[in-house]
Amino acid sequence: MTQNTISLASEVNLRFDPAKYETLKISLDNNIIQVKKYSVIYVANPVRFRLEQIGKGGKPQRNANPYVYQTMNIYLSEYADRNMNAPIIFMVHNGGWKASVVEDSVDEGIRYSGNSNDDLVGAALKAGYVLVDAGTRSRGIIAEDGSFLGKAPAAVVDAKAAIRYLRLNSDLIPGSTDRIVITGISGGGALSVAIASSGNSPDYYPYLSEVGAAGISADGTSSLRDDVFATIAYCPITDLANADAAYEWQYAATRLIKSDYYASLNGDYQFLPEPPPQGPPDSQPPDKHKYYDSLILSPQQKEASDRLSEAYIRYFDSLDLKREDGTPLTADNLPEVIIELVTAEINRVLVSGSAHPCVPDLGEDFILTIKRGPGGPKKPGELSDDPPPYNLAIKNEWLKLSADRKSVECVDYEKYLDFVASIQALKPVPSFDQGDVSQGGESNLFGTPSQIYSNFTAWSWDHNASKGDGIGKEDTGMSFDEYLETTDGKELKAQLKLTSPIPYLSSGSVKTAPYWYVRHGIRDRDTAFAIEVELYYMIKSQPQVKDINFKFTWLNGHAGNYDVQEAFSWLADIL
Ligand code: DHB
Repeated sequence: MTQNTISLASEVNLRFDPAKYETLKISLDNNIIQVKKYSVIYVANPVRFRLEQIGKGGKPQRNANPYVYQTMNIYLSEYADRNMNAPIIFMVHNGGWKASVVEDSVDEGIRYSGNSNDDLVGAALKAGYVLVDAGTRSRGIIAEDGSFLGKAPAAVVDAKAAIRYLRLNSDLIPGSTDRIVITGISGGGALSVAIASSGNSPDYYPYLSEVGAAGISADGTSSLRDDVFATIAYCPITDLANADAAYEWQYAATRLIKSDYYASLNGDYQFLPEPPPQGPPDSQPPDKHKYYDSLILSPQQKEASDRLSEAYIRYFDSLDLKREDGTPLTADNLPEVIIELVTAEINRVLVSGSAHPCVPDLGEDFILTIKRGPGGPKKPGELSDDPPPYNLAIKNEWLKLSADRKSVECVDYEKYLDFVASIQALKPVPSFDQGDVSQGGESNLFGTPSQIYSNFTAWSWDHNASKGDGIGKEDTGMSFDEYLETTDGKELKAQLKLTSPIPYLSSGSVKTAPYWYVRHGIRDRDTAFAIEVELYYMIKSQPQVKDINFKFTWLNGHAGNYDVQEAFSWLADIL
């Protein structure tokens, strides 16, 4: 069957209608241009979700229709319209690994520069690329029937379904489906790398079939591809099955030193500084007593931190990674590799002279600009209501420069981690599988559609103390390993696999994207640096990968789209 044959009844309503668009007028690099906006539901059996949902920042939100999570917008600027060979920038959100409604990333009257480092939409439009913005299901949303139909792997399934829609209609939609570039930040970065690593994997077919994705037939075979050409992924919060363990491996010692120190003060915090604001969007400094108390670990947390940290060593070593010189990359020399990557970035910044703010020598201050609010382009005449960014000075106790300040002399690893943890408090122990979803964490990404959440790691499952939630050893009488052998447990195992790039990067039987651009801020504490190193070296080890451009970026925290010009010049090169 050829790629564009419509042979299935369910695919008939997946046919793109080129005449059904809205015209937007925008300013791009000071030229007024027109952009066609198409809004399409990209699956034949979209799930109906309640209109009232809890949206961003825990605020109630009313959706325009039940299908906003499985809808995508396709934007064609005058430069991209009719160009069947244009690359397709495929934006996903998935912030916090939460469901995301389709977004108006291009809107009437907005001024885009196209030349700035933080305007990915403008850069894509200016380059003449087709721009797609896809909503995707994920955790935290309730279907009309009351069930949780956004759980893993829904976000990955939906992104694949949207890619399949583009392929099904590649004769009608400008842009080349051989040049799809998936991009996102954090949860969206994780979604991007999951897609880039698992192209055409049959593991997803049953889920794709359920939602009526293009090119999946009733007998479960596929006539379309869902692989991509490249990804631009920022701070991917990925490998969730091992993220708690990695976090403790990374920060157990940092936590313990702080914990012992604050415990020794017996609640007398009067001489300690006010805690720093905990980063965007929370611009208020937290209560001083609560903040320092929260850094003191309970005996159970210390035990958890130790056990998780040990588990990560076994896991990391099982990945069997190799360094550039062919020697094994193990948990033993992983700190050395993290230092190498941090050093390489700072050396690059020192040589390029582009450091803003400049790189301090030992004893001088790092000046961090902490942004508050989402920023982004505004309509003409519209003032930003974001609180202004503020500067935070933190003494450099970890980075020593050479005498001429042109290179790094040494990095004190423990003090570097302490620096990261002093800007924004570390996540609690455990960080991701926290169980009780009111506390944060990702536990409600997993489980059956009728479970509010499920623990997804052995430690949290075996130590779940919420009686009556139906989860964990105390409620089920089963250890995590025993549970994984049950029907629901097998599905949980599949959810973990289908949302992570790591199992696919080691499988060899799928189509891996040939081009990868991955970034993680040098002071980003939202997941362990180890996770990003793991991802980087797994990508590197793939024979199908032609280029992996990876950096721990200078002085960035948990953020993305901050080096858009560099990313797009990389993209122009590989194209
Ligand atoms: C994001 C941040 C997190 O700390 C996390 O655990 C998952 C996602 C995010 O910013 O998308």
